[in-house]
Amino acid sequence: MEKMKIFVADSISKEGIAEFGKHPELELMVKTGLAPDKLAVELSDSVGLVVRSATQASREVIGAGKSLKVIGRAGAGVDNIDVAAASERGILVLNTPGGNAEAAGELAIAMMFALARELTRADASMKAGTWDKKSFSGCELLGKTLGLLGIGNVGSIVGSRALAMGMKVLAYDPFVSADKTKSLGFTLASFDKVIQTSDFISIHAPKTADTKGILDAKAFARMKKGVYIVNCARGGIVVEKDLLAALESGVVKGAGVDVYEKEPPDDWTLAKHPRVIATPHIGASTGEAQVNVSVMIARQIAAYLLKGEIINAVNGVK
Ligand SMILES: NC(=O)c1ccc[n+]([C@@H]2O[C@H](COP(=O)([O-])OP(=O)(O)OC[C@H]3O[C@@H](n4cnc5c(N)ncnc54)[C@H](O)[C@@H]3O)[C@@H](O)[C@H]2O)c1
Repeated sequence: MEKMKIFVADSISKEGIAEFGKHPELELMVKTGLAPDKLAVELSDSVGLVVRSATQASREVIGAGKSLKVIGRAGAGVDNIDVAAASERGILVLNTPGGNAEAAGELAIAMMFALARELTRADASMKAGTWDKKSFSGCELLGKTLGLLGIGNVGSIVGSRALAMGMKVLAYDPFVSADKTKSLGFTLASFDKVIQTSDFISIHAPKTADTKGILDAKAFARMKKGVYIVNCARGGIVVEKDLLAALESGVVKGAGVDVYEKEPPDDWTLAKHPRVIATPHIGASTGEAQVNVSVMIARQIAAYLLKGEIINAVNGVK
């Protein structure tokens, strides 16, 4: 029996590897951090490709995979995969929605608490041997309005935790009904209402043509003075230079940023800003989430290749 080669280009958990191992028809090859030209060579006889967010499955890389049938993203966002190029070649693209939602949601909540109480700056002052009680007078989350942009897997978790903290939750999501939003305990609102009335704004939408640059200078100009911004979704949804200007003008009091226009950034001004809490795209970096997404993608790829069963496809193939 000729085995089907699955090439794993970014590291996945040992539980995910074990899940693939349950299928003798599949042969796993794990080599991470390859340059695109080396990856293209490896893909020439691969039937499946597994990536997280580091590997760019570009049109050229996909084109080199002459036998490729499926690309699996162990995670949610597929902006590192040229889905159109895959569709043209009849390659199915799968992701694992929800598998890392708790991890990403909890990071967004952690950002809100840390921003409200200036935790990172207060900690840094203690580490510098300074007892400075006066500089860190924060605010409470209780009674504040949280505006969510996107209430899918991650956004709905963030909203539910915010409700438990006594916040009012406004949500803008063009693809979710008012009834569904109400059943979550949130209030569906227009984009304008969300950005104009929120004390905290947290982004949980995918990066698309509609959301790219949605928080730009025009949007910041309409926000409440002293608003906090959290972006644990995707870089580029917030225009970084406009966020910096809004921090400087005082419109934005603080920002929690996990994702960047370029990763790692070429320009570190935003990450180094004193009122920005910056993390290096660690939203999904919990042990639990990595096990979840790795096992999910292994099951989904095996189901497709061995039984033709399609679970969580982001494109359609004939
Ligand atoms: N930082 C990280 O490591 C990390 C981890 C997990 C997810 N993410 C990112 O978080 C975001 C949300 O992930 P998810 O799993 O909840 O995705 P999801 O698909 O479950 O939910 C996304 C929601 O955004 C909504 N949406 C689409 N277009 C919109 C628009 N123009 N305006 C407002 N809402 C819009 C959709 O209707 C959907 O309800 C994605 O960008 C994902 O890539 C980041």
